[in-house]
Amino acid sequence: KFSKNVLMPLVAAASLLVAAPAALAETFKMAVGDAAGGTQWELGTTFAKLFQQKTGGKHKVDLFPNGQLGSEEDTINNAAMGTLDFSILAVNNITPFSPTVGLLTMPYLIQSADEAKKLTQGEVGKELTDNTVRDAGVRIVGWAYSGFRVLTNSKRPVKTLEDLKGLVIRVPKNEIMISSYQAWGINPTPMSWSETFTGLQQRVVDGQDNPYITVSAMKFYEVQKYITNIRYIFSLEPLVVSESVFKSQKPEVQKAILEAGQEATEHSFKYLLETEDKIKKDLAARGMQITDPANGEAEWIAKATTAVWPKFYKSIGGKEKLDRAQKVLGR
Ligand code: MLT
Repeated sequence: KFSKNVLMPLVAAASLLVAAPAALAETFKMAVGDAAGGTQWELGTTFAKLFQQKTGGKHKVDLFPNGQLGSEEDTINNAAMGTLDFSILAVNNITPFSPTVGLLTMPYLIQSADEAKKLTQGEVGKELTDNTVRDAGVRIVGWAYSGFRVLTNSKRPVKTLEDLKGLVIRVPKNEIMISSYQAWGINPTPMSWSETFTGLQQRVVDGQDNPYITVSAMKFYEVQKYITNIRYIFSLEPLVVSESVFKSQKPEVQKAILEAGQEATEHSFKYLLETEDKIKKDLAARGMQITDPANGEAEWIAKATTAVWPKFYKSIGGKEKLDRAQKVLGR
């Protein structure tokens, strides 16, 4: 017979052995297209913290920034196959997989951060989320609000479309954005985001467009000198979860994902409003020269809206989708 003094530690050790695996947090992987420090990173880290809290530490998310898990397009494919759990990427890089989200990159549709929020959080956002589940096998559970995509280049100040001529501009592999530059009179160079810094550094391309906060997070100030403050696209960057991964979670975990996504989205909006001006000043302090487009951007706006919008009515699901978005925005 064993005494209680001998038995109790054995029982305690055995129960630890049984309890140990359950105590290990299940870890999800999140790809982040940008380098650490921008709006994508802010959304991702906020989501990870909230999700871990909401699951009582049973679930954890590891973030892999700066395209470590492949191009933004690759991450959509991998999430669709269920080999990647989460990804944060620009909405323009989801459009090739789910064309109706192209609505959000129609040039000059969204004219302020508030409008971006209104479109993504209401019935339009809900419909686009359903469509990406259907078309691309990923579910949008949060949004980073990143600000307007401004044009940067290494060669000269650009105010007019005439100034743009002769510059080699990188664009995402997004037909709406390619068409916008064509309407402005040049043929841009489609290139994956993960190759863009090197492309700029090696002067394969002269310029690109992305928000101030992204230009800063990606250290583009090291390889770009001029900024043109255009406002053709307000950058929206969804946090997506693989639909098959989402579906395989227990209801309480799904709930935690959705709630953490919503709260992180709210945080992202505040972060943009608090940060963008500071970053803009910092870029100027680092030697970037910021210019406004001529005549309140009139020429840029007229060319892009008249030439580009009708070309994409069909892919966004019909002209009525654009009409509805404009109605939501009170136009
Ligand atoms: C792009 O230009 O491809 C994206 O907007 C970059 C990003 O994800 O920040």
